[in-house]
Amino acid sequence: MSVILRVRDLAVAYGHIEAVKGITFHLNAGEITALVGANGAGKSTTLLALSGLIKPVRGQILFEDEDISLLAPHQIVRRGIVQVAEGRAILTTLTVQENLALGAYTRKDKAGIASTLEEVFHLFPLLKERAGQFAGNLSGGEQQMLAIGRGLMAKPRLLLLDEPSMGLAPVLVQEIFRTLKEINRSGLSVFLVEQNVRQALKIAQHGYVIETGKIVLADSGKNLLIDPGVVEAYLGG
Ligand SMILES: Nc1ncnc2c1ncn2[C@@H]1O[C@H](COP(=O)(O)OP(=O)(O)OP(=O)(O)O)[C@@H](O)[C@H]1O
Ligand SMILES: [Mg+2]
Repeated sequence: MSVILRVRDLAVAYGHIEAVKGITFHLNAGEITALVGANGAGKSTTLLALSGLIKPVRGQILFEDEDISLLAPHQIVRRGIVQVAEGRAILTTLTVQENLALGAYTRKDKAGIASTLEEVFHLFPLLKERAGQFAGNLSGGEQQMLAIGRGLMAKPRLLLLDEPSMGLAPVLVQEIFRTLKEINRSGLSVFLVEQNVRQALKIAQHGYVIETGKIVLADSGKNLLIDPGVVEAYLGG
């Protein structure tokens, strides 16, 4: 199993306050890796560092053996690390199809883009039905699907997601996790940040638990689901 991303002693601060306090972890290529933890634990901050939106105060981020920790966000996107925007970050006055087309802005291969669009429509048939409608008319869950679809249009090598299930009705939460599993089955590496610890660990091959800026547990998703500490703190005893 090859490692696609390796993070060593990563620390990220807001002013004088260190939100991420020297974390070390790795993502295996072709797997879903989950990062789970409570509010304020440092999950989004970790993702911001991976996307280049915040510069770390120390540590290394190696993507396919290249240190990307000081690269600009657009350079990181071009290497294939794509963060799914939050559902509400879609462009409401553009159509579903126009939003998807924007996701492919780094690509020039017209035929490739068309075939990715077909894959996205296959994953999310609803987006195909609504292709010509304004994105603003989609429900919250549908907008989240559109955001994931838009991320996929970039043909990423590593997909980053920040709480894709947040605020969704249970049936849509199931749908989102089912789709992520299907996306991963095609070989795409996924880094999934979630507060929905149970669902995230169910679909993740590996997981990390973060508490107040430090990784406190690392194991397979399966083992973490039955870890007494995880069960007590995150799965309702
Ligand atoms: N822009 C900011 N300025 C100052 N402090 C911040 C900023 N963003 C986050 N923090 C702080 O950094 C810490 C980690 O926040 P972060 O957003 O990474 O947590 P999280 O795990 O994503 O939480 P949640 O599950 O609520 O999204 C928190 O203490 C938070 O208050
Ligand atoms: Mg967050």
